[in-house]
Amino acid sequence: MELGESMEALSPLEFRSMTTEDIPAICEIEQEAFTTPWTAGAFQNELTNNQFARYMVMECDGEVAGYGGMWLIMEEAHVTNVAVKEKYRGKKLGERLMRELQKTASFFGAVRMTLEVRPSNLVAKNLYEKLGFYSVGVRRGYYTDNREDAIIMWADLPKYQHNTLNELTGD
Ligand SMILES: CC(C)(COP(=O)(O)OP(=O)(O)OC[C@H]1O[C@@H](n2cnc3c(N)ncnc32)[C@H](O)[C@@H]1OP(=O)(O)O)[C@@H](O)C(=O)NCCC(=O)NCCS
Repeated sequence: MELGESMEALSPLEFRSMTTEDIPAICEIEQEAFTTPWTAGAFQNELTNNQFARYMVMECDGEVAGYGGMWLIMEEAHVTNVAVKEKYRGKKLGERLMRELQKTASFFGAVRMTLEVRPSNLVAKNLYEKLGFYSVGVRRGYYTDNREDAIIMWADLPKYQHNTLNELTGD
């Protein structure tokens, strides 16, 4: 496939902070993406009560195409959640979203990022490895639905100049 071919039918993407008004659309994606989806209340709590949380929405064609979130604590960013709406998958949008999360984390002072992934989730694992994540260990039986292990991954974040964030994000 030629570079950019998979993007040809897509409108420009917009990245912005998630608000509580996004929660219904987010929960729809959450339902199709995960076996144990977060509830609306969980997102509400993250957006209103967690000072460390930062959640982003990726919009395409006027709808929420994906979202991701993390906890920013000192120099570390812990990704809590990333998903792309099914119809938008395989078009490099997950990669764009993750890069946006990485840039944002770096902008806020994080120098490394961590996340957990199921060994069976090869798509996500490939994506993370492409973005520089490497495995450092396993949390045994981490996932409550099937007791699957979680692979713990870390990545060093590329450095971004604060004054180039808008240019980099296309805002
Ligand atoms: C994981 C997810 C966010 C990836 O988003 P996506 O938009 O489908 O992925 P992209 O098109 O951006 O692909 C980026 C990279 O992911 C990997 N990837 C994507 N689709 C793949 C597939 N079908 N098979 C193997 N690897 C794949 C590749 O490394 C790809 O890079 P490449 O095309 O240069 O090889 C998305 O599939 C999703 O929402 N899945 C359900 C929720 C989920 O599992 N979230 C992660 C929890 S840890």
